Amino acid sequence: MHLFRCTLIAAAALAAPLAHAQSSAKLKVGLMLPATGTFAALGTAIENGFKLYVQEQGGRLAGREVEYVRVDDESDPAKATDNVNKLIKRDNVDVIVGTVHSGVAMAMARVARETGTMLIVPNAGADAITGAMCAPNVFRTSFSNWQSSYALGDVLVKQGKKRAVTITWKYAAGDEMAAAFKEGFEKAGGQVVKQLTLPFPNVEFQALLTEIAATKPDATFAFFAGGGAVKFVKDYAAAGLNKTIPLYGPGFLTDGTLEAQGEAAQGIYTTLHYADGLKTPRDDAFRLNYAKTFKLQPDVYAVQGYDAAQLLAIGLKAVGGDLTKKDAMYAAMRNARIDSPRGTFTISKAGNPVQDIYLRQVVGTENRVVGVAAKALADPARGCRL
Ligand code: BEZ
Repeated sequence: MHLFRCTLIAAAALAAPLAHAQSSAKLKVGLMLPATGTFAALGTAIENGFKLYVQEQGGRLAGREVEYVRVDDESDPAKATDNVNKLIKRDNVDVIVGTVHSGVAMAMARVARETGTMLIVPNAGADAITGAMCAPNVFRTSFSNWQSSYALGDVLVKQGKKRAVTITWKYAAGDEMAAAFKEGFEKAGGQVVKQLTLPFPNVEFQALLTEIAATKPDATFAFFAGGGAVKFVKDYAAAGLNKTIPLYGPGFLTDGTLEAQGEAAQGIYTTLHYADGLKTPRDDAFRLNYAKTFKLQPDVYAVQGYDAAQLLAIGLKAVGGDLTKKDAMYAAMRNARIDSPRGTFTISKAGNPVQDIYLRQVVGTENRVVGVAAKALADPARGCRL
């Protein structure tokens, strides 16, 4: 009995410095984001946002210096499993932050579930990530695809638009945003008369624009982002369609793209969880610091990256930087209230933000806030069993 107690005490004495060593060692963050292709600028903004928050904390989270390992995922779902496994098995990262593309992020979420590695998604909206595939170690600081587009249907009907065509890339994000828009639009009394798609990341829009012109809907709902959104909005205007069939969409259509879209984007209404002109002290400070640091204006992607770092910091702080205390860390993250540049938001049981969805309109180079399309909107988290 005495010998057993002595053994326990000796083991505890050995374990204590080990735990301390673990929680003061560098924190390895695996950034899996696109650095090339149509979503490259989105990846850069997310990385900048994440690093800005860490830099504001003196380069440390919960006392641990942060070190980065980066992978360009190329927005290619076929390479996603290998890429995420490299970060986990070769680089031994403590947490993975990524990515932009829903198809890539679903593969990442699958691996995160299997290995128990913490994953924070700073963009990709695939509904399943915080729906049927939800897991205690998986979080999102952006949106679900459903959340981005559901509230827009009611906006269109209130603006007298009753017949709409949807046009999107054919993959999870496009399919789910179009479905969410249709759900909200038809509930409000509208009708989706045609659903057009093209493969990701194609930008040959001409044949589909001809089809929209022939269908003569009251409005067009479109999901494109990054380089694809720039080209779509310009092609739509060049075809003269913006004069007779107004364009609407989730805010990715015009976020981070307005300098390049110029005149073609003027007047477009979108819904999103961030906007220009919020004029809160929190947002103003973020924008100023971002612009000073990167010589760039921030966008929604930068905010999502910044908030991924904030959420991680909340989890780490709750356990003194000791990542082995997973239950306590995840509980703190699920109970978090994030003081975001977008406004305060909370995290649902499924790990997704519960947040306001703004109605915005393009004026000059701003996605100017003109209202709140949905207050504290929670994703339905269909199929999540947590
Ligand atoms: C997505 O694939 O989930 C996505 C990509 C870009 C912008 C928004 C969503």
